Amino acid sequence: MALPAVLVLAAGLAACDRAPSADGLKEWTASDHDGEKKSAKQGPKGDGGGASGLVELTWRNQCQSCHGPEGRGDGPQGAMFKAADLGREDWQSTVKDEEIAATITAGKGRMPKFELPDEVVKGLVVRVRSFRGQ
Ligand code: HEC
Repeated sequence: MALPAVLVLAAGLAACDRAPSADGLKEWTASDHDGEKKSAKQGPKGDGGGASGLVELTWRNQCQSCHGPEGRGDGPQGAMFKAADLGREDWQSTVKDEEIAATITAGKGRMPKFELPDEVVKGLVVRVRSFRGQ
């Protein structure tokens, strides 16, 4: 009979232990799901795009070394691979979203293919669109 009360008490104490700092909590809200917008047709601002944390991480880890932080092709490996400048108006205005997605999943020229979840690929397409005109 006494045992459950002890457990509840212990749980209460553990919770109290990590109460003080509110800082770390902000980043991990589940609200990413709500923010998901259907279309990838966004303007130059690229202000949204749903699961942006994961997409951002993927861009930084998998794409930036060649394409550079702003997609200019100026990452550390950009010159060696001749990575495309993704901001070019002539390219942005003719390429379709599906073609960008296909490049990511199938590779192109010296760009390797990437096996990524659909959501991430879609987010990367939005990310690539955001480089337009920069
Ligand atoms: C190893 C270097 C490298 C990495 C890493 C890389 N790319 Fe590329 N990317 C290239 C090169 C080189 C091209 C030019 C391909 C060509 O036109 O032959 C290119 C072209 C592109 C294009 C334009 C394709 C077109 O239609 O002309 C897009 C979009 C693109 N990359 C997106 C990405 C994304 C998103 C990632 C990360 C998931 C990524 N790239 C990672 C080297 C890379």
